[in-house]
Amino acid sequence: GLKIATIGGGSSYTPEIVEGFIKRYDELPVKDLYLVDIEEGKWKLDIVGKLAQRMVEEAGVDMKIHLTLDRREAIKDADFVTTQFRVGLLDARIRDEKIPLRYNCIGQETTGAGGLAKALRTIPVILDICKDIEELAPDAWLINFTNPSGIITETVNKHTNVKSIGLCNVPVKMHMISADILGVDRAGVRMDLVGLNHLVWGRDVIYKGESKIDEVIEKLIFGQGKEVENIPDFGWGDDLLKSLGMMPCPYHRYYYLTAKMLEEEIDSAKTKGTRGEVVKKVEAELFELYKDPNLKVKPKQLEQRGGQYYSDAACDLISAIYNDKGTIHYVNIQNNGTVDCLPNDSAIERTCYVDKEGAHPLNVKPLPSKVKGLLQVVNEYEALAVEAGVYGDYDAALQALVIHPLVESSIAKPLLDDIIKENIDYLPQF
Ligand code: NAD
Ligand code: G6P
Ligand code: MN
Ligand code: MN
Repeated sequence: GLKIATIGGGSSYTPEIVEGFIKRYDELPVKDLYLVDIEEGKWKLDIVGKLAQRMVEEAGVDMKIHLTLDRREAIKDADFVTTQFRVGLLDARIRDEKIPLRYNCIGQETTGAGGLAKALRTIPVILDICKDIEELAPDAWLINFTNPSGIITETVNKHTNVKSIGLCNVPVKMHMISADILGVDRAGVRMDLVGLNHLVWGRDVIYKGESKIDEVIEKLIFGQGKEVENIPDFGWGDDLLKSLGMMPCPYHRYYYLTAKMLEEEIDSAKTKGTRGEVVKKVEAELFELYKDPNLKVKPKQLEQRGGQYYSDAACDLISAIYNDKGTIHYVNIQNNGTVDCLPNDSAIERTCYVDKEGAHPLNVKPLPSKVKGLLQVVNEYEALAVEAGVYGDYDAALQALVIHPLVESSIAKPLLDDIIKENIDYLPQF
């Protein structure tokens, strides 16, 4: 039977992925789901794991949920390993948000300086996990959610032999919004998406073989409500959207509306707290709910988290591989010449068709300057982040920040020194 290991099983998102497997049980019969965590997160694993067990029992599916701190036991002979861990838990995220803000710099967990800090903490752990996969389940697919998802995918592709695909819920949301704006069936839409994780552009929206991007842009100008819960839904401005002619992703606001986003962050930090601080409260509420022995399904309150629909991305992808479907998905994979202005070994986020061999990116027409400039610089930032994370290379980390468009270069060094000092317990490579 199918065996899946989920690393970071104590995540409050776990009921979503469990629901995803339950819903697809007929086509994807997961017999053993191992939820793996560490000592620090054991209390979370206990609570959410018991809810997961009640959920499968309630659904009446033959799926055994194993709760364990033994990663090797979980990975051994697994068919798929999914990762959703957070090194240092939410306290580390809150530091990632607050340290840059001291320097009047965007403080975000995946984008900019905070994303570098998260990458530096995460890279040693993902490399260890990959060693276990190479040894204990060499044919397994690694389906990664852990952020920064693009940088983690690039690390795995460059430095391990593990077959891996990186995921994000943002493309799923962009797909849904496009279909909804057009007022058409979501299943009939295909997005031509290209870029990096959290820096992906919707170049086109195809419906019944026709390009609908102009119509989507036109309607986006009039505002479209929240894309993801964790990012403010400021409008883009007509001129910006019209001149871009593509659908930006919500994280583009950090680049296209930097001053406004920084102002919002500073203001929120003072009033309701940073997003990490808000999430800490949401998480506490969720775990109170999860403890209720009468709760046997995923509660609605989980929708307050930004990662909503991540399980659809994951479960659909796993099913496409397992069932050799050849369906379309938006995933992070090695570039390999797909985007001609990026190195072969970079990770890209792209529309792909997926079958049992993995994800195959659709061809990409050369990108225009308006996209290429930002894409290339952030891509090289990511390459430097990988080097810094793998080798503990201080100079690479410093240059990563110096070239990053959201970091004013003269603050790069003191900012980096704070990041290293305040994360040192999680940075064995430094
Ligand atoms: P969380 O703080 O609840 O962490 C999840 C679990 O990871 C915790 O229970 C923790 O104990 C565990 N953990 C920490 N270090 C570990 C290790 N070395 N091995 C195994 N488990 C470990 O985090 P969360 O809010 O549920 O998010 C989890 C991760 O998923 C984050 O990295 C987040 O950025 C990412 N995420 C990504 C997307 C996406 O679109 N790619 C969507 C949602 C969440
Ligand atoms: C988005 C992103 C994820 C990110 C999440 C944060 O959906 O795609 O990569 O982890 O939001 O949500 P949170 O509720 O933790 O702020
Ligand atoms: Mn994401
Ligand atoms: Mn810079």
